[in-house]
Amino acid sequence: MSKQQQLDELKQRILDDKVCPELAASATQLVYGDGNPDAEIVFIGEAPGKNEDLQGKPFVGAAGKFLNEMLEMIGLKREDIYITNIVKYRPPNNRDPLPEEKTAFLPYLQSQLEVIQPVIVVTLGRHSLNCFLPDLQISQVHGQPKRYNGMVYLPLFHPAAALYNGGMRQTLIDDFALIPAIIKKIKLAK
Ligand code: URA
Repeated sequence: MSKQQQLDELKQRILDDKVCPELAASATQLVYGDGNPDAEIVFIGEAPGKNEDLQGKPFVGAAGKFLNEMLEMIGLKREDIYITNIVKYRPPNNRDPLPEEKTAFLPYLQSQLEVIQPVIVVTLGRHSLNCFLPDLQISQVHGQPKRYNGMVYLPLFHPAAALYNGGMRQTLIDDFALIPAIIKKIKLAK
């Protein structure tokens, strides 16, 4: 079975398993993930916002536009990467995802990563970082690759948080620019 077929099966499983039925009921649709199943980089955000909920794709609003600009800066397009969120339904009024919602979706996120087998997982924001590495603080570890359980994670600030904050925006751009060299180093070490 191709990676795309495996990802499609996993999407259907989330629906069949009725993960977070209350969130599902208030959302327009499941926002599963998008991009290249053979990607070397997987980006993981928090949860869909309004635009994502309406279009059924992650990071299609203002934060997504900023992310696309940063991808372009390192010579990549959305088609080159895979992108998803921890929580796959929009929380009402864009509230933070609840701990139990993150826990409910985590096994499916881990299965997505097992199918794709990226070189690096880029976490966007503290929720995403702390799903994998609960003891780390984003303000202290952003831009520093962390190896854990055979996978390399790169914690970055969330593009929505950095969008209108000049200092954080530049930090995110600078951290983003490290990605190609980090990937090269990981591949050389394999
Ligand atoms: N913010 C996120 O964390 N995910 C999205 O898909 C959009 C905005």
